Amino acid sequence: MTTLEEAAPTINQARLLSRLTELGRIGEQVNGGRTRLALTMEDKRARDLVVSWLDQANAKVRIDRIGNIYGVLDGHQTASPVMIGSHIDSVVRAGAYDGCYGVLTGIEVLDALARRREQLRRSVVVVAFTNEEGVRFAPDLLGSRVMVKDVALDEALVIRARDGVTVAEELRRIGYAGDLSPFGLLPSVYLELHIEQGPVLDAEEIPIGIVEAVQGHSWWRIIIDGTANHAGTTPMAMRHDAGLAAMMLATRLVHHSRDQHIPNVATVGALTLEPNAINVVPGRAIFTVDFRDYRDDALRTAERLVEHGLRELDAAGFITSAQCLSRHRPVSFNPAVCKLLETTAAEMGLRTRRMNSGASHDAQMLARICPSGMIFVPSEKGISHNPKEYTQPDDLARGADLLLSAVIRLADVTGVPDGTSDI
Ligand code: GLV
Ligand code: MN
Ligand code: MN
Repeated sequence: MTTLEEAAPTINQARLLSRLTELGRIGEQVNGGRTRLALTMEDKRARDLVVSWLDQANAKVRIDRIGNIYGVLDGHQTASPVMIGSHIDSVVRAGAYDGCYGVLTGIEVLDALARRREQLRRSVVVVAFTNEEGVRFAPDLLGSRVMVKDVALDEALVIRARDGVTVAEELRRIGYAGDLSPFGLLPSVYLELHIEQGPVLDAEEIPIGIVEAVQGHSWWRIIIDGTANHAGTTPMAMRHDAGLAAMMLATRLVHHSRDQHIPNVATVGALTLEPNAINVVPGRAIFTVDFRDYRDDALRTAERLVEHGLRELDAAGFITSAQCLSRHRPVSFNPAVCKLLETTAAEMGLRTRRMNSGASHDAQMLARICPSGMIFVPSEKGISHNPKEYTQPDDLARGADLLLSAVIRLADVTGVPDGTSDI
């Protein structure tokens, strides 16, 4: 086996940091953070920048039919590639690191590999997946879902955004309706480097998390129709207040999670009332629920609570409906990949801990088709999906160097350690 000392150059930390800053400027909001929802013009500008950096790294750029961007560095054998990556779309008023760190580190890894004299056995592919966040188009993880056939390409292309346009229309409009099959570059192994987005590594002062599992999730949009009416004249006992009904059901679901831990976490992140006026009893309420748990049966229990709550409201004269926006069972990552990451980190003198991911990631989809794993680096105070998201530069560099070393091992003819023969 080649030793890390002789095999592993380090990534260009200064360039990684400056690119994170530059990418983070796209979609910046006056009130802080950046909003770069999938397939918007902001996403297009971010994509164009990433493609230009892939070009600079001498990678072959390919775009597939769901808009996933790939940068390919050829190996000297035709074996299926080692894939690394994440996403560059964002939530509303996001931080600069979520997803972008994984993609930009991937480009640094390609650049470092291209500068090595020795060509790797397997190709290495960096990917930026389409619509990971799922804020504008549901479901989330769309590019990786299509790759692993969780969602058929034809179905994905006709999904409509909240504002009515389809994925296919928006891909064409921003120039990212590629011609590559989404199954054209299927990997032999997938690694994703990401900020933790939670407080554990920061609190324990451990630089590297080896992710063993990802929570499952169940996302819902619930619509309750009552009767809009005059706020001054309608007696309390004679109302069909859709807003109150929504707030009571939402509170019940979130409190059930808080008190019974079923599911592990529950969030009502969006609530709109119609007509949304101070002196009108709401006639319609629309809200979302995000349930997450490591136990699929806990997710199912939470879903039954929704069903039960809606039946009660129907019986009380409301008209209700619930649409599942996204569902994913909990996922465990490949033990051999976890071990390889842990061993590689130990040889680099990096302390690690095994942990789970509370957030969803494209890696949980890729785990269906190939051995997959994730590396986490600390998020200061565990803040994420927030403009204040922050990771120390040294922590960013440590994660990136670990990714580079792990990729060399996975892609190198002599570099696969014992115990990973199934990779
Ligand atoms: C993605 O960031 C998610 O976990 O919602
Ligand atoms: Mn996110
Ligand atoms: Mn992410």
